[in-house]
Amino acid sequence: MKIFLDTANVNEIREAASLGLVDGVTTNPSLLAREKAPYLDVLSEICALVPGPISAEVVATDAPGMVREGRDLAKIAPNIVVKCPLTAEGLKAVRELKGDGIRSNVTLCFSAPQALFAAKAGAYIVSPFVGRLDDIGIDGMALIKDVKQIYRNYGFDTQILVASIRNPLHVIEAALVGADIATMPAGVYQSLLKHPLTDIGLARFLEDWRKAEPALKAQKIGTAV
Ligand code: E4P
Repeated sequence: MKIFLDTANVNEIREAASLGLVDGVTTNPSLLAREKAPYLDVLSEICALVPGPISAEVVATDAPGMVREGRDLAKIAPNIVVKCPLTAEGLKAVRELKGDGIRSNVTLCFSAPQALFAAKAGAYIVSPFVGRLDDIGIDGMALIKDVKQIYRNYGFDTQILVASIRNPLHVIEAALVGADIATMPAGVYQSLLKHPLTDIGLARFLEDWRKAEPALKAQKIGTAV
């Protein structure tokens, strides 16, 4: 499963990407609005930091406007993927952008038929929002399972991106279901690496090594700890 960061904060992306495990980034108007710099500069910096797909969202609500904005966004860098909302106008824009060779991420997906339509329109990525469904008492991950099954039944190659991730459990479930991509806030990404037993275990190993150091030195094993 590919791991994307769901943020427009360049510092967060730089730090997380230093591990070499970030496959892409998703942004949205709310995330970009939080940043202080001009959004085109922010997007182009993100595109340079992470070589994978970088989603940048249109804000027009009519298809011609989305297509215009999408074409402009696509000029930022070759790894831009244009995010269009899951509306009738959004799907018209997806089809037209595809004709230009521009990849799209259909966002704000909350149901299986919406995801079916996104795939039929030619979306490169579809983004079901699991957290926002969970927030209103609907099982978000059940939607991912349904979309996965529907795409498998008909051989759609649209990638399923699990969006609106709130915690590590969402990431585990996304991987178990076989989602193509999970996008997550930097805090969730950082927490995936950590386990208290790893820290306790490492501390114990180092302590035991330190205690045995004189004997180890005598054996010429080294003192590099
Ligand atoms: C996905 O591309 C969206 O940017 C994001 O996952 C929305 O998440 P939220 O529900 O936490 O705002």
